[in-house]
Amino acid sequence: MRQLIAGNWKMHMLRAPAVELARGVREGAQGVACDLLVCPPFTAIEPVASALAGSGVAVGGQDCHAKGQGAHTGDVAAVMLRDAGATWVIIGHSERRQNHGETDELVREKVLAAVDAGLTPIVCVGETEDQRAAGQETEVVGWQISGSLPKPFSGVVAYEPVWAIGTGRTATGQDVAIMHAFVRDELVRQFGEAGHDIRILYGGSMRPANAGSLLAVPHVGGGLIGGASLKAEDFLAIARAAKPA
Ligand code: PGA
Repeated sequence: MRQLIAGNWKMHMLRAPAVELARGVREGAQGVACDLLVCPPFTAIEPVASALAGSGVAVGGQDCHAKGQGAHTGDVAAVMLRDAGATWVIIGHSERRQNHGETDELVREKVLAAVDAGLTPIVCVGETEDQRAAGQETEVVGWQISGSLPKPFSGVVAYEPVWAIGTGRTATGQDVAIMHAFVRDELVRQFGEAGHDIRILYGGSMRPANAGSLLAVPHVGGGLIGGASLKAEDFLAIARAAKPA
């Protein structure tokens, strides 16, 4: 399976610079050996999707509500993302889990809503620094997987150690190898044969300089890129470091 390089633009980019960034990605996307996805903030999804139409670069949201519609001020339904041109959505990012108290159960409901609306979910899991210091990283991630993924699950998992997100501290190749092998085993244990085919992204300070070594680790099916996805040049350099299928 091709690796997926996904950009999480977080709460960055007004519409004009977002479109400019999307055009830059579009220009360099020809011939890369991976699938490409960008996830702009809600307000930029529609113009970015228009700028990327026909390019093969997919567009996603960064969250959605668990319900299809209703009295939920400030929230956005999966079907609205779809209507704006998104085909993917990130769910359960650690910033949502931390800043908005999102639980595994809520994440699972959101995943179901996303799939219902025809979106492919990227479900994020990962331990905090304290949990790792206490030696609980596999236990925590195992629980997050069983609590956050509905059965059956058609989507992607992103392993993002919280202490590596936006910090410039990347997990070592060995940490990543251990955690991705663990996530694969858990997926196979929980989903049977289908667990072999679920892509597992690594996220947390991935950048051009470390992408090649991280993307070469067994069971790494791509990257979820924050900071380095805000410059087309860096994002594309990571994409060029992807392993051909
Ligand atoms: P980062 O963010 O690449 O800036 O560490 C990754 C993420 O939060 O998805």
